[in-house]
Amino acid sequence: MQTLRLGVNIDHVATVRNARGGAWPDPLRAAKLAEAAGADGITAHLREDRRHIADADIDALMSGLAVPLNLEMAATPEMQAIALRHRPHAVCLVPEKREERTTEGGLDVAGDEARLARFIEPLAAAGCRVSLFIGAEAAQVEAAVRVGAAVVELHTGAYCDLHAEGRGEARDVEYARLAEMAAHAHALGLEVHAGHGLSYETVAPVAAIPQLVELNIGHFLIGEAIFRGLQAAIAEMRARMDAARA
Ligand code: PXP
Repeated sequence: MQTLRLGVNIDHVATVRNARGGAWPDPLRAAKLAEAAGADGITAHLREDRRHIADADIDALMSGLAVPLNLEMAATPEMQAIALRHRPHAVCLVPEKREERTTEGGLDVAGDEARLARFIEPLAAAGCRVSLFIGAEAAQVEAAVRVGAAVVELHTGAYCDLHAEGRGEARDVEYARLAEMAAHAHALGLEVHAGHGLSYETVAPVAAIPQLVELNIGHFLIGEAIFRGLQAAIAEMRARMDAARA
């Protein structure tokens, strides 16, 4: 089985920084610690309202990182121009609503095919691997192929929420959907990632889905870092992923 890459999302280092303004704590410093702890990539979501990561963070990450940057963003002209200026390794397109606390639900690729195909084309031509953050639905997976995405990232938020609510049966149904759609996307030639809401409790079953090649994890790791330090928090996640794959 392929090894599973860990992308560490550092958005919430910026959230803490922005609570006071100024420059501390520095997301680039966190990203470098994540690299040292075994992260295979860094993910940062430049939101339209800049509530966590700011434009200057993207500049710093692009010039300071040794591992690839996965730039999460909405499919807007402003974000497309930023991505084309920086040409990060990967661009993950996510739905974005101003009032939401975090990315709720996946992108409606099937309902927006022509626009997304036009949006993706220059990014792919510039060498970015374009990923679409979607729910585990066949219609979305199949539309992702048609619009020219290289990657889909399956939204694990519902699975993690059902686990946290103790709704084991519904969680297992959602898990089966994730596993089935990972296989379907892989069979259609897409690279398959997953993420959102993952923790030490939920990561192992997801990591065991054989078609997945990358997990993107942020909020839990930054929270756990308060108690144990970022490197220890990441090293344990890495170890749990590796054990699930073994
Ligand atoms: N993947 C995508 C596409 C996301 O939007 C997010 C949240 O920004 C994550 C992964 C990471 O989610 P979490 O912070 O809950 O681990």
